[in-house]
Amino acid sequence: MTNAEQKKKLIIFDTTMRDGEQTPGVNLNLSEKLEIARQLEKLGVDVIEAGFPAASPGDFEAVQAVAQHVKCSVAALCRCVPADIERAWEAVKGAVNPRLHIFIATSDIHMQYKLKMNREQVLAAAVKAVKLGKSFCDNIEFSCEDASRTEPAFLYQVLEAAIDAGATTVNIPDTVGYAVPEEFGRLIKGIRENVPNIDKAVISVHCHDDLGLAVANSLSAVQNGALQIECTVNGLGERAGNCSMEEVVMAINTRGGSFRVTHGIDTTRIYRTSQRVAKLTGVPVSIYKSIVGANAFAHESGIHQHGILANPMTYEIMTPQSVGKTESTLVLGKLSGRHAFSDRLQSMGYTLTKEDIDSAFAEFKELADRKKTITEGDLEAIVGHVKRDTPDYYKMESFQIQSGNKMQAMASITLTCDGQLVTEAATGDGPVDAAYNAVNRIVEGRWRLDSYDIMAVTGGMDALGEVTVRISREEEKAEAASSQAETQAGLSAEAETEQPQGVKAQTVSHTGRGLSTDIIEASILAYVNAINRAMAETARKTA
Ligand code: KIV
Ligand code: ZN
Repeated sequence: MTNAEQKKKLIIFDTTMRDGEQTPGVNLNLSEKLEIARQLEKLGVDVIEAGFPAASPGDFEAVQAVAQHVKCSVAALCRCVPADIERAWEAVKGAVNPRLHIFIATSDIHMQYKLKMNREQVLAAAVKAVKLGKSFCDNIEFSCEDASRTEPAFLYQVLEAAIDAGATTVNIPDTVGYAVPEEFGRLIKGIRENVPNIDKAVISVHCHDDLGLAVANSLSAVQNGALQIECTVNGLGERAGNCSMEEVVMAINTRGGSFRVTHGIDTTRIYRTSQRVAKLTGVPVSIYKSIVGANAFAHESGIHQHGILANPMTYEIMTPQSVGKTESTLVLGKLSGRHAFSDRLQSMGYTLTKEDIDSAFAEFKELADRKKTITEGDLEAIVGHVKRDTPDYYKMESFQIQSGNKMQAMASITLTCDGQLVTEAATGDGPVDAAYNAVNRIVEGRWRLDSYDIMAVTGGMDALGEVTVRISREEEKAEAASSQAETQAGLSAEAETEQPQGVKAQTVSHTGRGLSTDIIEASILAYVNAINRAMAETARKTA
């Protein structure tokens, strides 16, 4: 038997749009989720977990839309609550290969304090839920939340019952990122040895990164028989995040002999996917991030550079090209036409609507007037900024700033609102603060700036500056605090008659992005974009 024949296929289950969206401050709209889904499909993931339909109408719509747009399997999360399962099925049933992902907590601490249920009740709820799911769909994944802190004998019992009831995948989450690799591997081995019907289901793992061990734990599970890894792009997710897709996949590629599995990921799409997800979620990638960070392939020391020149394998265990990180080259100039522009975007892997190409082309022409060399990095930034489905309640028309080290900064801003030009001026602690204070005088609502990030898209004095801000409404902040406790309690499987509530705490943050060669302009654009997005979200909720 050859090596290739001995290798089993590892299923890559991407939960960027479900657990990844539970990253504090991340709030993706429908078109952003669809774009991520398309990227993930091109990347070659096997299953996309698109959301938790019972959590909110927005999640329901997103799961439904993703289910209709991609060909790979689409999963919808639900608790062991009939209303959740029915809602999840409604959302996901249009997929080519729909999957229901049903979960309940099985650790003593979760059962006692969160669910207020005993073992018999949890076991019965799990079986009932899997059977209900199975009446809709064959592809059922069942998760024992907090499995790594569950008493093994009880875990085996629940898994056996879930498989008997029809689960085809059983997922073992390290929900709080508590496990260590050797112990987690032993848990998977124990499941294989002690769950009599385990050969009827795929063993999956879902590891969180609280101790920085999510990837190591997932790989240890694979060495012990797990054949599905749940992961997210850039390791996004609740608290410290989830197992990072790019890290786990490149570990398997680079150290294949240790894992004996294959996967369907086109690794040359990893870098681009990471960049798009970072832009769309507003969560920047750390320069130190393995595989996709800006420094991941940078060699600073002379000795390293010398070695790399002599033979790249001296200091490079994988090539930047293998993850799609190529040199940013001059691609288009001032005189390039719309056709060349759209061809170039297509060759970079983007499929945009005619409207999106039009607005991206307009931005490109504006940029070409200001910047000599336009690179792929610039084009990617422009694509990330083309108008999506957010109406312009406010649009920045012009601004003037006065600032210096011996004076208080002053800003005068003109916005269009409802077809009218409105101008206001304000002072502030620096030019950005002054500009935001002036915007606050024009727009409705009281906004608070929660975070502000600025990044140069490419090098050079005329580089594009990209600003990402996160803002919240003062009013929503207070409301969220009071509903938070309720949301946590809402996960009980006993709460069948309650209004279903999400695992995601009520979202109060809204992200906005702005792009310009002038960083003050980029800052104002980002702030106004965040306000427009927040207003669109409020309008959608109240519609
Ligand atoms: O971390 C976790 O336990 C989860 C489950 C819902 C699978 O996200
Ligand atoms: Zn999780």
